[in-house]
Amino acid sequence: MSKIHIVSNRLPYSIKDTENGFSLKPSVGGLATGMKSIYKDYHGSWIGWPGVAKEDHSTKELDQIDALLEKENCIPVHLSHEEINLYYEGFSNRTIWPLFHYFTQFADFNAETWEVYKAVNQKMADATISILEDGDSVWVHDYQLLLVPEMIKSKMPNVTIGFFLHIPFPSFEVFRTLPWRKELIKGMLGADLVGFHVYDYERHFFSTVRRLFGYEISFNQIHVEDRIILADAFPMGIDYDKFHDAALATHQKPLQEKSRLHQELEKYFLTSPDRRLILSIDRLDYTKGIPNRLKAFARFLEKYPEFRYKVTLVMLAVPSRGQVDHYQQLKKEVDELVGSINGLYGSINYTPVWYFYRSLPFENLIELYSSCDVALITPVRDGMNLVAKEYVASRTNKSGVIILSEMAGVAKEMGEAIIINPNDENDTAESIYQALTMPLDEQRERMSYLQDRIKRYDIFKWANEFVKSLNTARDIQSDFLAK
Ligand code: ADP
Ligand code: F6P
Repeated sequence: MSKIHIVSNRLPYSIKDTENGFSLKPSVGGLATGMKSIYKDYHGSWIGWPGVAKEDHSTKELDQIDALLEKENCIPVHLSHEEINLYYEGFSNRTIWPLFHYFTQFADFNAETWEVYKAVNQKMADATISILEDGDSVWVHDYQLLLVPEMIKSKMPNVTIGFFLHIPFPSFEVFRTLPWRKELIKGMLGADLVGFHVYDYERHFFSTVRRLFGYEISFNQIHVEDRIILADAFPMGIDYDKFHDAALATHQKPLQEKSRLHQELEKYFLTSPDRRLILSIDRLDYTKGIPNRLKAFARFLEKYPEFRYKVTLVMLAVPSRGQVDHYQQLKKEVDELVGSINGLYGSINYTPVWYFYRSLPFENLIELYSSCDVALITPVRDGMNLVAKEYVASRTNKSGVIILSEMAGVAKEMGEAIIINPNDENDTAESIYQALTMPLDEQRERMSYLQDRIKRYDIFKWANEFVKSLNTARDIQSDFLAK
């Protein structure tokens, strides 16, 4: 049976080190949560980093970790502290991540991190090549592994390779500032199919390829000497039924079986019939616009004092990339903003912002999605943003309003949300007012359209479309060679 192997920086499971030994826990992030629902359907392996440094564990412990991951068809590529520092925190998250999200002032161009980025990409490619069998395909993911497609293709030209970028691809004017721009594009062009979340990113990619290499591009096909490469937009979906069914089950549970969080949420609503909750969920990342969001919420409380004591912002931020300085500064800024809003507008029986700096289990996520009246999603740049889709899927009674940044890829699919510019604090504050006063009929009408769309193009459809296009890319290439 031909298989599709997945390659990504992070495996879908991370290692939990407890007194009773190691266990696996799900990794956070759009790529991991999305692909975890489907990769087993492709009968291949998932190659990537298990999230720990190899020096921190003995050989025996690393063997235990490998054995746990093997049960989930995962093949770990172990990285040293130095590799994590220079490849992951360094070139991936201090150079590509800020640049591709238009944070050009944060992008660090450093030859040392570039060298280690290349070396780790080679390690991932070699680990993949070592398990490939005739007829297998490979699906490489995201900006940490831009060189892997070419590294595999150069050794195994007959393997069909797909590549999907989970973050934006920036305008050429931004991309061109990278000293290693040609190498990165050559790396991506080792794939037979290159996928993006939305057409805008694809368009920037085409113009970059044309301007750097002069290759001819027609009807989504890039003509590169003896090869034809397809590129297209595939907006990533979620496992809609999983979220929807879990939300239904949550509502049906008797009170005593509900989690502590859920019982607290219910108590909160019982204290007064007009209590309302606004939800904010992300990794703590400067691209997510968390300070803007807090300032807009403060502006809302200032402008509409009648909502004080009634509306609470539940803010969940998962710790992310904590070794990178810009993330540390963001953490400090968010802590201070939360403190100042709670200090200014809070009282003994009212806390305007409930702030949780941690990852929550799936059950609690669902409880929050289904209990909060408004989802406030305000990234300054975001490749897609799956949280918006998860909120939609969890609204089983079709109430609820989404306030959504136009800078998130998902905004293209969510015309029924209240669309805002996250840099416009006043407008965001007004949209909070609009969301909280939106009549129930209107909420339900908007939510029905959103649910139909997000359910139809779910993660399974997304993956099927990608794999179908990968097969087309392979056929186009064989026809081309046969001519
Ligand atoms: P990104 O990939 O940039 O992190 P997405 O919104 O696309 O952003 O995906 C985030 C994923 O991480 C979602 O599937 C969401 O459910 C999950 N997630 C976000 N915050 C938390 C949290 N505090 N606890 C658990 N999972 C979370
Ligand atoms: O979806 C974008 C993404 O960067 C993924 O590549 C990544 O797995 C996720 O967000 C979380 O980031 P990290 O793996 O750095 O914790």
